Amino acid sequence: MAKERQLWGSRLGIIMAVAGSAVGLGNFLRFPVQAANNGGGAFMIPYFISLLLLGIPLMWIEWTLGRYGGGFEHGSAPGIFHSVWQKNRFIKYFGIIGIFGPLIIFIYYTYIESWTLGYSVFSLLNKYAAASDKSAMQQFLNAYQGLEKNSYFSNLLPAYTFFVITFLANITVAYYGIKSGIEKLCKFAMPILLVLGIIIMTRVLLLGVPNLMKPDWNISNGMGFLWNPDFSSLKDAKVWLAAAGQVFFTLSVGIGVILTYASYLKKADDVVLSGLAAVSTNEFAEVIIGGSIVIPAAFIFFGPIGIQDVAQSGAFNLSFVTMPLIFKQLLFGEFFGFIWFLFLFLAGITSSVSLAQPAIAFLEDEFNFDRKKAVKIFGVATFIFCQPAIFLLGHGVLNELDFWGGTFSLVLFATIETVLFAWVFGMDKAWKEIHRGADMKIPNIYKFIIKYITPTFLFLILGFWFYQDGVPTILMKNVSAAEKPYVLGTRVFILLIFIILAVLVKIAWRKRKIRTYKI
Ligand code: ALA
Repeated sequence: MAKERQLWGSRLGIIMAVAGSAVGLGNFLRFPVQAANNGGGAFMIPYFISLLLLGIPLMWIEWTLGRYGGGFEHGSAPGIFHSVWQKNRFIKYFGIIGIFGPLIIFIYYTYIESWTLGYSVFSLLNKYAAASDKSAMQQFLNAYQGLEKNSYFSNLLPAYTFFVITFLANITVAYYGIKSGIEKLCKFAMPILLVLGIIIMTRVLLLGVPNLMKPDWNISNGMGFLWNPDFSSLKDAKVWLAAAGQVFFTLSVGIGVILTYASYLKKADDVVLSGLAAVSTNEFAEVIIGGSIVIPAAFIFFGPIGIQDVAQSGAFNLSFVTMPLIFKQLLFGEFFGFIWFLFLFLAGITSSVSLAQPAIAFLEDEFNFDRKKAVKIFGVATFIFCQPAIFLLGHGVLNELDFWGGTFSLVLFATIETVLFAWVFGMDKAWKEIHRGADMKIPNIYKFIIKYITPTFLFLILGFWFYQDGVPTILMKNVSAAEKPYVLGTRVFILLIFIILAVLVKIAWRKRKIRTYKI
């Protein structure tokens, strides 16, 4: 007998859950790095244009497609795509990207998330107190990650312990399901996260001028670095790519998770205003909170040139090396360090539970497993899949997973779903479907944008990006000879995951009965 499909408990619940998925490490670590690497003010114009032309339309597309697919009792992209284009035998295989992408991201994201948990404890215990400069703080991080042995840590055990705790926390939330697991977590964690964010932001905004010899290194110039617009950036394809990529990652669109979350809506639940509310929450967290912590703090301590060096050393260095060093110079630095890492942990876990959901929904909906069984299978498989990211961290594995799961898949998947929605489903039908039960009417201009501008923009990004980043990455141009075997090994590993998913789709569709739309 078919089981009851899960549903969200409340409208606030799904908005918090989607916002929880969107607000993540990307908002507070990736965004400042992208902004600083692209010249601060130069970044924000392409960023907001990408938000209007890509981010918001994709959010609406995913909410609508997900709710529609849920009506056929499909909660993951293969089934949802098939519901939209029933006559096409191949479209379900394109949907695999919407399970594969989040699964690959989940594999490394949970490990990084576990560092934030570890560091929140270390901050409280004052464990990195002896690391007084950049290189010492870097050694602390390297030792924690098992990349070198020194007096701080002699093995991976602490990191592994925090990983297991984080992993189990994620699986437990998934085990309790949509309403009692994810919704509860997000309703509890999101307000706390926002309060913690505002506390840290306020502390940063109140920073004086630490270096009296450099009075220009102050908060207003730090903010100006991000907000003084630079229109010349509009001519630079690289800045557009970075801005669009950030919009995808931060909103969790193009991943597949919002499709799954929206599949647990009722058919007449609003998606227009709710989608917009989730975008607004994310942008508040990213631009207001994310933009007011790391960038101004790094500016005040390292100046306009130094901030770019810091940004080029990457998001991990920024959060696990630079920020602890800054907090150490403040009164009650341990407390602020604790809050910073706890804040990142909450941002991380509300995102990672969403990354787990497409694969779990796939097992439930297409194999008719009950939720607990689906979560157990998912838990065992992903626990094994996580191991290379942990033990081979220094060998380029993480970058490789991020490229295929967190960049390539997103742009490709977003392109496919937009074409499917606007051209196969058809814009007139799509427009009606978006507005079913809507609490707000979308301006008509978006009909044009979704049909023409968003797909054109996506194809351009796909093309440029493939040419600029894709080809060198595929050919391993920036990979050292020592890392090549690991990178190749990672590719074989993720290709196997993709093939397994494809076989599962084939098996599932062989057994399936034709489903009808349930209102
Ligand atoms: N949207 C999530 C983030 O920003 C994945 O981290």
